[in-house]
Amino acid sequence: MTGTVRPLRRSEVRDPFAVWRPALLSHKLKTKPAEIKLFGREIVLFRGSDGRVYALNNRCPHRKMRLSQGHVDGCQIVCPYHGWRFSGEGAGVSPGTPGMKVSTESYEASERHGVVWLRESGGTDEIPSFDFPGYRHAALLYHPLHAPLRHLLDNMMELEHTASVHSLFGFDVSRLHEVTTSTTQKEDGIHIFYDGPQRKLPLYLRATSGIREGDRFIQYADVKLAPIHAVYDLQWRDPKQNSLRGMELKFVIYFNEIEPDRAEQFTFAYFRCDGPLRQNLFTLLRKVLAFNINRELTADVKLVESLHLTQQHENSYLFGRFDKPLHMMRRMTTQFPEARTEADDKEQPGVNSR
Ligand code: FES
Ligand SMILES: [Fe+2]
Repeated sequence: MTGTVRPLRRSEVRDPFAVWRPALLSHKLKTKPAEIKLFGREIVLFRGSDGRVYALNNRCPHRKMRLSQGHVDGCQIVCPYHGWRFSGEGAGVSPGTPGMKVSTESYEASERHGVVWLRESGGTDEIPSFDFPGYRHAALLYHPLHAPLRHLLDNMMELEHTASVHSLFGFDVSRLHEVTTSTTQKEDGIHIFYDGPQRKLPLYLRATSGIREGDRFIQYADVKLAPIHAVYDLQWRDPKQNSLRGMELKFVIYFNEIEPDRAEQFTFAYFRCDGPLRQNLFTLLRKVLAFNINRELTADVKLVESLHLTQQHENSYLFGRFDKPLHMMRRMTTQFPEARTEADDKEQPGVNSR
């Protein structure tokens, strides 16, 4: 691998909360407050009597009781220790000292696509619409894992493992050497392309999707850094005619750090078919499709959890031709807090990659 990549400028370094990111599946927030951890911060989410979701620092400013242990009263959350209460905007009142000025940190919260999204107050970005022409929703999936965020990202940026780790959407292991791949650095992330022979699928998937063993399995991945997420486009083509097979998939996956050795991913999955018949068939089979997508992503998570890498291991990776995105990502995140490593801290920005 050769070439120089530009680390993000300091002005491009962003707080993980500066932009909207998925934080919780909506159905997990009922009448009780919910505690989450994101990038090491403890946050309480609660649903007010107006139906809206509010988000505050989970630690009460008084004596640091967890507000998530308290209860919701109207559009306020009440601390269970001394009864101080807080609005969704963080304005507080101490019943024992009514004139006292009390406030706590609040976040903007919004629900869309079945998920609660969070960001710090004052952001200007929009929650994505996921309005993909011709695509239908297949699944919303959530996977937490016990591993650092960067190990998850490393796995999600290369497809060499699909021949070994995955049983459906991946390359034929005996023809892995035929796979072509390219990686391009963009202003705000990385674009990755793969093209190689598809492995054999089970009969029911071959029959319904039209995808055959040896088809060209083509995947485009657009990895963005703020927030860290990737849009994966999967398609299959007849190797002779180059015509599209019957189904395409699109996954939008957001990656969060929970704390340094725990991460999570939210997956929004969509499918598109070559005609109304197949489109309706897969709409009927949506649960089967969701099951299979979940199975593949669970395989990723289990693999990453089993790695148990030390910093020393990471410093001595022997990168192969499929690993350029990892290398580039590490380069780009040199000054970026969401996925930096101790090794990044030691590197000088702007030096050539291998
Ligand atoms: S710790 Fe919350 S009111 Fe005292
Ligand atoms: Fe994978």
